[in-house]
Amino acid sequence: MVRIMSVDRLTDEDVKEILTKYRKIALVGASPKPERDANKVMRYLIEHGYEVYPVNPHYEEVLGRKCYSSVLDIPDEVEIVDIFVRPEFAMDYVEQAIKKGAEVVWFQFNTYSQEAFKRAKEAGLMAVAHRCMKQEHERLIGD
Ligand code: COA
Repeated sequence: MVRIMSVDRLTDEDVKEILTKYRKIALVGASPKPERDANKVMRYLIEHGYEVYPVNPHYEEVLGRKCYSSVLDIPDEVEIVDIFVRPEFAMDYVEQAIKKGAEVVWFQFNTYSQEAFKRAKEAGLMAVAHRCMKQEHERLIGD
């Protein structure tokens, strides 16, 4: 059987495990604007029981939750750093994910930076790329 692997080389089982095992998410590029995918995905993740900490230096609060300027300011453990910023900003957040002791860096669509992805992997984190947490949750776990 031919198995098609995506850039991150993760199988459906791997992605499902990530979505099941880890519950604490720093959502980088969080936005209060309902038209932004970051906003829709954050809402979805909260509705599905994840603890989501918004990160964006431009805002004080997103979806009623305190918004942090840095992943390092989050006063709790962070397991997944979910990235919704342009690729040129991804590396800063990967460095924060590493310092914070996160397990996974997740690059949403149009956020992938090869350098940042490589850095996360070399530091021993799992890295997910070109996927959406909401879509993958709907596809692999459902409601
Ligand atoms: N740190 C944190 N947030 C930042 C930032 C930084 N360094 N720089 C910009 N942002 C925020 C901005 O505040 C902005 O939100 P706002 O409009 O509420 O203020 C947001 O990031 C995006 O800004 P911008 O860079 O102008 O966005 P863009 O229109 O060029 O889009 C992405 C770039 C990455 C946000 C967009 O392609 C995207 O949403 N990708 C993910 C798509 C996806 O996976 N969808 C899910 C489908 S289920």
